[in-house]
Amino acid sequence: MSRFFSRNTRELIPYVPGEQPNNKEFIKLNTNENPYPPSPLVMERIRNFVLEDLRLYPNSEGAIIKQAVSKYYGISEEEVFAGNGSDEVLAFIFKAFFDNTEKIGFPDITYSFYPVYGALFDIPCVKVPVKNDFSIDLSRYPEDLKGIIFANPNAPTGIYIQPDTIEALLKKRPNTLVIVDEAYIDFGGESCIPLISRYDNLIVVQTLSKSRALAGQRIGLAMGCKELIDGLTRVKDSFNSYPLDRIAQIAAEAAFSDTEYFNQTRQMIIKTRQWTQEQLLGLGVEMTDSKANFLFIRIPGIPGPEALYKLRQEGILIRNFKDPKICDWLRITIGTQDDMEKLVEKVKKMIAG
Ligand SMILES: Cc1ncc(COP(=O)(O)O)c(C=O)c1O
Repeated sequence: MSRFFSRNTRELIPYVPGEQPNNKEFIKLNTNENPYPPSPLVMERIRNFVLEDLRLYPNSEGAIIKQAVSKYYGISEEEVFAGNGSDEVLAFIFKAFFDNTEKIGFPDITYSFYPVYGALFDIPCVKVPVKNDFSIDLSRYPEDLKGIIFANPNAPTGIYIQPDTIEALLKKRPNTLVIVDEAYIDFGGESCIPLISRYDNLIVVQTLSKSRALAGQRIGLAMGCKELIDGLTRVKDSFNSYPLDRIAQIAAEAAFSDTEYFNQTRQMIIKTRQWTQEQLLGLGVEMTDSKANFLFIRIPGIPGPEALYKLRQEGILIRNFKDPKICDWLRITIGTQDDMEKLVEKVKKMIAG
């Protein structure tokens, strides 16, 4: 650690992303990427991109994306914000709406980047325990929170909350900002986006990294009332005016245009998820009811780190977490049907000892 580090930098405990190996020798089920390529339309538009245009800055607001998202969801362009991956959008949300006296609450088991943003921006964080079955109980959140954030479906459990339940929270707590991170919503949930026109205390965050297979392109979104989006734009323009490059903007537009490919590939992932769930349940594996593109499982009698190690030896990367509450649980991304058949075989072998 350099002596030049600020106190804040010294004290940070950064988020640790899943391993990204340089070669393709592993079946990669550790970072919830899409096993299928981006839409052919996305690839065609990128191939046809006029490279000479790279000398010019992109549109700073992400105008092309805003237009595509507004058309897709039937909302106004003023209700859309676009950033460099939803991780950046989430960071802007923490910065725009909280300071060091305003608490943000989230489940103790959820996306582990939330406490990292809290620490980065010196925002007091309150972790509210999930129930024993890992479900989120929204009635347990203290009254003095300025905001509540959770992923829906939640990560890494995949457990989903219906929009009705979230709407009841928005109604009951009009002065609490509710941030719903819908990174995995397209794999079996219903989005809360239709609620943004009626609740000025709601922000919905989405990403093109999962259901639209563009993790490498880094595109994230926030949807909310105009005033909230203006807050995010103020932060963006005080940090980096151009978070989305020209290629990302045309890729995003094409991804939202090709609904047929989007629906086809997400249905394939859902079908493979259901197949894998049935197979693993048949082997006596414990799991949550995941509505995401991953499963959250526990293999009886095999500690999490051991299962992770054994699968790695067999050429499969998955994810395990240090929190003692879930250290024996594994998060496994849904790959292709072929990937999952291999995974089931290896789990069977592990259980047989
Ligand atoms: C719940 C959740 N939110 C946000 C993200 C960030 O996605 P990205 O920055 O690729 O848009 C992830 C990534 O895994 C996630 O699991």
